[in-house]
Amino acid sequence: MHVTVLGSAAGGGYPQWNCNHPNSRRARERDPDAPMRTQSSIAVSADGVQWVLFNASPDLRQQINDTPALHPTGALRASPIQAVVLTNADVDHVTGLLTLRESQPFRLYATPRVLGVLGANSIFNVLNPQYVTREPVPLGEAFEPRRPDGTGLGFAVVPFAVPGKVALWLEDAFKGDNFGTVPEDTAALEVRDLAGHTKFFYIPGCAEMTPELAARLQGAPLVFFDGTLWVDDEMIREGVGVKTGRRMGHLSVSGAEGTIAAFEALGVTRKIFIHINTTNPILIANTPERRAAEAAGWEVAYDGMRVTL
Ligand code: MLT
Ligand code: MN
Repeated sequence: MHVTVLGSAAGGGYPQWNCNHPNSRRARERDPDAPMRTQSSIAVSADGVQWVLFNASPDLRQQINDTPALHPTGALRASPIQAVVLTNADVDHVTGLLTLRESQPFRLYATPRVLGVLGANSIFNVLNPQYVTREPVPLGEAFEPRRPDGTGLGFAVVPFAVPGKVALWLEDAFKGDNFGTVPEDTAALEVRDLAGHTKFFYIPGCAEMTPELAARLQGAPLVFFDGTLWVDDEMIREGVGVKTGRRMGHLSVSGAEGTIAAFEALGVTRKIFIHINTTNPILIANTPERRAAEAAGWEVAYDGMRVTL
């Protein structure tokens, strides 16, 4: 299986349009230690020719232009993108669907809850149902993404719920502390080759390492995991926001309760942070925090990163 990281930043991208934090300034100054990052998404392929997007970021047009494997070949209107799988309905994960208009056939897979949210927003009708089929995928059930003509794409995906939060734009303050969140609001994706030789996990948003999640991840060859914040109150400390990571549905990287500690006993071979916020010091090469993450066996995803397994 082939994985290409199309985007490695959290919602807003790095630098975010209105962010004047020192990290963002370094990226705008083209500091080689602080490369720009687009909003998180990966492309997955069994054969290196036909690709499935995991989430559709607002930066998708740029991501396609930057990724030769995703360029049209053959016919005058064509794309190697055969399908899109969504993990949730966050702005940074669904708005790229609007880029995929223009009567190009593909299949769109998401939980019934997320498809319901898209269905309730008529702007997504730009994806003409004659060309783009919406395929509900129940949590816990494996499915093989397919081309529009029905041909299987050679790997299986199992969406499963992880602790998280309903998309920011769907929060309902009248529905209590969790803003009306239901399990189908935050899916993680387990991806298996059909021969059963290998697998990996794509988890760009996760609020907590539960015993069930730890058991699933135990011994995995590869995990992409939520690297939004270094510490829970980072946005408050840095003066750029009022929300904690916990409030946004993200487990932080450091600390006794953090992601690095939570993975210590899991025996995961390759651990890669993705969905990284502008304030997180692991964005930047040679910071003490980046070095600490690397010393703990973690890599930090970058746009254009390629992994074959
Ligand atoms: C998140 O991951 O918390 C969201 O992308 C926030 C947002 O919608 O900007
Ligand atoms: Mn996000």
